[in-house]
Amino acid sequence: MAKQVKQHPLTGFPIDFLWGAATSAFQVEGNNIHADFWDWEQTNLPNEQRSGQAIDHYHHFSEDFALAKKYQQNAHRLSLEWSRIEPAEGVFDLLEIDHYRQVLQELKKQNLVVFLTLHHFTNPEWFTKMGGWKSAKATWFFNRFVQKVVPEFAPWVDYWITINEPGVLLYHLYINSRWPGSEKSWFNYLKTFYHLVWAHRQAYHFIQQRVPQARVGVVHNITCYSVTHPQNPLENLVKWWKSLTETHLFYLLSYKTHDFLGVNYYFHNYINLGQEKPERHNLTRSNQSQLGWEIYPQGLYRVLKSLKRYHLPIFITENGLATNDETQRTKFLTDHLAAVLHALREQIVVKGYFYWSLLDNFEWTDGWQANFGLIGVNRKTMHRLPKKTITVYAEIIRANLSSISKKKS
Ligand code: BGC
Repeated sequence: MAKQVKQHPLTGFPIDFLWGAATSAFQVEGNNIHADFWDWEQTNLPNEQRSGQAIDHYHHFSEDFALAKKYQQNAHRLSLEWSRIEPAEGVFDLLEIDHYRQVLQELKKQNLVVFLTLHHFTNPEWFTKMGGWKSAKATWFFNRFVQKVVPEFAPWVDYWITINEPGVLLYHLYINSRWPGSEKSWFNYLKTFYHLVWAHRQAYHFIQQRVPQARVGVVHNITCYSVTHPQNPLENLVKWWKSLTETHLFYLLSYKTHDFLGVNYYFHNYINLGQEKPERHNLTRSNQSQLGWEIYPQGLYRVLKSLKRYHLPIFITENGLATNDETQRTKFLTDHLAAVLHALREQIVVKGYFYWSLLDNFEWTDGWQANFGLIGVNRKTMHRLPKKTITVYAEIIRANLSSISKKKS
């Protein structure tokens, strides 16, 4: 009698599913001295929390990509640091362009599908000093950069992401206002919103025109909202308004300039217009991250479902947990992948998943106090230390690939 081999519970992903992890240049490279965030850190973060050398990915990129490959990943998401490439207005640094060319070539050598983000939060300092994203010239500056880098890097890029999380950028600039060049201003919020939409549209058209078969999109951080009192029409209205303004308005205003949708999923928030704090909002140690963010895998399924209406392929371009507890991280990963499988079974076209992040890295205003990585880094020796979850992730990827090849034979 043939022995029944027990199938991994997380098999069933499509054959062409992309499995990867993401990073952003400023958070991993180190010494991004021409970026606005670098300058901001010097006065706003204590010395030990500043980005400094970061994890020196700038010199360790080959080793880092080799680790991604070793642990079965077949795709990688990374970003360019605009301020390295254009450290002064209109001055392009050819050595840095060459550096990124080597980085992208290395990804291809490792046989990884490349997702390249053109703007991931940081700006060159000169850009912020000249008014930043609210300035009337902002989109012109950004597009000059895009027009410079796209032809340089096109041979090695599979998917282009124009802007990472426009909504989060807007929030930190004009509502929470803790980031470089920030101020509390609804007027500038609206102006910047318009400029970001415009920058995306222009970049989309440029890339499409210059690179045959390019796939271009934007990445949104999409919060899953729940209402506390389902019978309360006002709470439902607020929920609708938040999803509209934080996500869908951008898509509407940039209609027909998306070849895919990029989703970063981290948050589940309650709309509560009542006085009381219901029981279920109480977070326990096990259902929150180091940063106090609730862990709610079902929210990923709900977010994916809300995007079905666009009839576009979806990539989860970031999803991850800040923790020092590998059992918690492993559960986070498997529960979120189960939510993706649930969506796939309902014919929602999810094409890839990128864990945030491949490596522990600099977490903006939280500095080094959040450990999102699948790989830890000793910042004195820069030694890389793969964690338990990366092995679990590799097993899931392997199980999916082998179940597909078994079906074929
Ligand atoms: C950003 C990352 C950040 C992560 C965790 C995302 O919103 O794209 O840069 O590190 O969230 O906060």
